[in-house]
Amino acid sequence: MKIALLAGDGIGPEILREAVRVLDVLRGEGLKIETEEALVGGAAYDAHGDPLPEATLKLAKQADAVLFGAVGGPKYDTLVRNKRPERAILDLRKECDFFANLRPATVFPELADASSLKPEIVSGLDIMIVRELTGDIYFGQPRGITGDAPNREGFNTMRYTEAQITRILHAGFKTAQARGKRLCSVDKMNVLETTQLWRDIAMEIAPQYPDVELTHMLVDNCAMQLVRNPRQFDVVVTGNMFGDILSDEASMLTGSIGMLPSASLDANGKGLYEPIHGSAPDIAGKGIANPLAQILSMGMMFKYTFGRTDISDRIEKAVRSALAAGLRTADIASKTTKKPSTTSEIGTAVVKAI
Ligand code: NAD
Ligand code: IPM
Ligand code: MN
Repeated sequence: MKIALLAGDGIGPEILREAVRVLDVLRGEGLKIETEEALVGGAAYDAHGDPLPEATLKLAKQADAVLFGAVGGPKYDTLVRNKRPERAILDLRKECDFFANLRPATVFPELADASSLKPEIVSGLDIMIVRELTGDIYFGQPRGITGDAPNREGFNTMRYTEAQITRILHAGFKTAQARGKRLCSVDKMNVLETTQLWRDIAMEIAPQYPDVELTHMLVDNCAMQLVRNPRQFDVVVTGNMFGDILSDEASMLTGSIGMLPSASLDANGKGLYEPIHGSAPDIAGKGIANPLAQILSMGMMFKYTFGRTDISDRIEKAVRSALAAGLRTADIASKTTKKPSTTSEIGTAVVKAI
């Protein structure tokens, strides 16, 4: 198992460190895991003037899986766009064709009281958001800012090819087949042609999956339904931009964005695994970030790239036992938390439990 470790910026290195401690336990048991680290994002820009240096991309391509922290930070926000840290994650997705992004929003019973929603709305929640990652307004051309003040214009282009839509919808249907067999395709077909095409293709593909119940929902309604009655969903499949926004929203159902892991998969099972959150500049360097989304992302890596559900189950159980023991970082603290735990205290609890 060859794993590239790309920690990135802000809390990235702080949370990835805890995942690697868990990995070291597995290594100590004899599991053959090779890891190699490389710079990415702002850290790579600072060292090499490039957020995704050639050597980092090469490492990511040669590895079976990439374990990724987070990139970005205010000090890079004024750089030209192709030098910004975020470019690194976008280019990794595009270059490695990691098109299928699985973002599971699961409420652990231990955390039902941590959500900003009432426990009776969120308890038992288990939904999967399948987000497309290589197309949409994120990559469409033309894009830019032209003209001079006061007549400047900014423009982006929302584009999806049939091939891009088809493959992510198949990923959505297959994910639903392996779960509760209900797929909700989310679009904005009442306004946008791109997503009219999306809906048309969804309906064309549906007969290939007679065991899956397909429904459609407009994205604005979906955003509302996610906080009204989130358990109505099993699998949600949607485009790059809508999926970005809806998954941050869904993360709060689980207690915190610091709980939500993700897998970004290519067509052959290789993948990049990262928390859905960013580099959290507001808490970086304080040792208080929640490392569980990162640790659970590593769990997804064992499941989806290496087919080791035994290990992903162990990781999830270890996380739950740390929570059951009452350990909480500040973002998931409950009324009974006397003193929030630090990032490394949570890591230690998971290491002990595993
Ligand atoms: P963010 O996800 O970094 O933070 C949003 C809020 O959630 C902050 O208050 C933060 O403290 C909190 N938070 C996030 N992760 C947490 C954790 N593990 N534990 C506790 N609290 C946590 O989003 P943002 O502030 O909008 O973006 C910050 C930077 O991160 C930007 O530069 C952005 O581009 C980048 N970003 C990168 C990725 C990525 O690397 N994949 C994802 C999202 C944002
Ligand atoms: C995410 C992030 C990225 C995205 C940014 C950092 C490019 O928000 O992974 O959700 O928008 O996809
Ligand atoms: Mn996001």
